[in-house]
Amino acid sequence: MALLEVSNLVAGYGETEILHGVSISVDEGEIVTIIGPNGCGKSTLMKAVVGLVDVRSGRVTFSGADVSALPPQRIARSGLCYVPQTDNVFPSLTIRENLEMGAFVRNDDFSERMDEMFDMFPDLGSRPSLRAGSLSGGQRQMLAIARALMLDPVLLLLDEPSAGLSPGMVGSVFERIRGINRAGVSLLLVEQNARQALSMSDRGYVLSSGENRLEDEGQALLDNAEVARLYLGGSRDRTESDSPK
Ligand SMILES: Nc1ncnc2c1ncn2[C@@H]1O[C@H](COP(=O)(O)OP(=O)(O)OP(=O)(O)O)[C@@H](O)[C@H]1O
Ligand SMILES: [Mg+2]
Repeated sequence: MALLEVSNLVAGYGETEILHGVSISVDEGEIVTIIGPNGCGKSTLMKAVVGLVDVRSGRVTFSGADVSALPPQRIARSGLCYVPQTDNVFPSLTIRENLEMGAFVRNDDFSERMDEMFDMFPDLGSRPSLRAGSLSGGQRQMLAIARALMLDPVLLLLDEPSAGLSPGMVGSVFERIRGINRAGVSLLLVEQNARQALSMSDRGYVLSSGENRLEDEGQALLDNAEVARLYLGGSRDRTESDSPK
């Protein structure tokens, strides 16, 4: 049984249908990446999975339970947590306060978890009273991830965690993501840095216009000429048309 199973998901905004029956799954322990053109519905898919956009038809099951109609807080508490693409920290609050906000649906004492986050992210732990607004882009992204980790998720959804970061920072964010996965958290990513994301992913999906386009192992998608041409900024290798006839 898959940890997350999304079947024939239909969702949208107002009159507009954006996802026309999308199906994806994540198995326990996996890193799975979704790529696809701007506006194809990647963020909408993540929001529908975590209850922030209504599921019009189809089903989302998590650990075998149907969560399609549950409110976001219930879904988060069940171990399915999400870091949005934008506005994912509170800039006017301190690092510590942001982590406290992350734990808002916990009813237990989360001070130990906060200490674990400060150990895992020393840049944050060394100055917990700093306002999030004065962090660099990369540190802010780490804070957003740490905030979601406060709930000790089983599955973490990250919407473009490397967007807008310098190439060096992109590498270190991806390294963190691998570490989180090694620590036992399954991951579903949406990424524009498709090559790097797919190379650390067990599997990947290509979406286009609100529909499944392709699905394969991460490496197989990297090796796919069409994927390379459309989504990876050109092929690493020479394409067939470049080869001598
Ligand atoms: N809150 C909203 N209200 C109405 N339409 C929306 C809303 N959010 C997104 N859309 C529209 O839904 C479509 C899919 O958007 P979505 O953000 O899911 O795409 P995406 O694949 O994540 O794109 P990007 O790569 O730019 O992040 C787009 O046409 C977008 O304009
Ligand atoms: Mg998006």
